[in-house]
Amino acid sequence: MSVSLQGKVAIVTGGSRGIGRAICQGLAAEGCCVVVTSRTEVDDSADSQFQRHASGTIHQTAQAIQRRGGQSLAVKCDLSSSDEIRQLVATTLEHFGRIDILASNAGIDCESLVPDLDVDALDLCLALNVRAPLLLCKYALPAMIGQGLGGSIFAVTSGAARGYRPGRVGYSMSKAALDRMFLSLAEEVRPHNIAVNLFSPGRVDTWMNRNGDWPGTAHILMVPPDEVIPAAVWLARQTAGTFSGQWVERADFGVTWGDV
Ligand SMILES: NC(=O)c1ccc[n+]([C@@H]2O[C@H](COP(=O)([O-])OP(=O)(O)OC[C@H]3O[C@@H](n4cnc5c(N)ncnc54)[C@H](OP(=O)(O)O)[C@@H]3O)[C@@H](O)[C@H]2O)c1
Repeated sequence: MSVSLQGKVAIVTGGSRGIGRAICQGLAAEGCCVVVTSRTEVDDSADSQFQRHASGTIHQTAQAIQRRGGQSLAVKCDLSSSDEIRQLVATTLEHFGRIDILASNAGIDCESLVPDLDVDALDLCLALNVRAPLLLCKYALPAMIGQGLGGSIFAVTSGAARGYRPGRVGYSMSKAALDRMFLSLAEEVRPHNIAVNLFSPGRVDTWMNRNGDWPGTAHILMVPPDEVIPAAVWLARQTAGTFSGQWVERADFGVTWGDV
């Protein structure tokens, strides 16, 4: 049986915009206290090419939740910094006193053919997509395990982890590493009844998707970010006893996995 989210505390990375903002809103609507985190505190996207998709700050997401009667906390964190991730966890515990859910959503691309690959961009991609989700778990798990009530951890992965996408060798590597890492972590924390899953959102209309041209994906239906909410909320409700160690696609939610 899955758990109620009322009063649970969730950290959602990349909460300023896109898929992360939708996950924040979805969890808050179910009664979660949501820690909204990313770097952006001031929106300077006005008049830029990607204004519609780039727009969003952690404060806007957090305030939108509060306006609807929910509980939220905006915490600035650059996930390439281990110190800032540790501080994010500490701030969450100071404010809400517990952590039940980690949604590792933040991620970046490093789209390039291999000979042209910018090494700094690759390092940042690996830091964001692989190292940061692991460090978030490293710092949050002692509290989650100590609470003794289970919990749910999931990361936003990509179909690129499993198949060829032109110009995306580095990004594919990062998401494949994320997948293996979380599938292994699922077994490590199973005795603590903490679920660990991987969520592939499909092609979602966000800044990341608009920023790159992502050749080879045009055939996939593009959906608005809110479409991820039912599947993400369902994942947040799981424990190791109900659903863990799984790699799931949003488009299959309610068909091959999750409640119909
Ligand atoms: N869109 C798609 O079609 C698609 C498909 C498959 C997988 N995904 C995955 O979905 C996830 C979310 O992507 P999205 O499409 O919603 O992209 P997005 O709109 O670009 O959002 C990315 C989020 O990550 C945050 N972020 C970036 N660099 C950061 C850093 N150094 N420290 C902390 N936060 C940082 C951004 O916030 P700040 O800039 O404020 O820091 C933003 O909130 C990613 O993991 C992506 O790989 C997306």
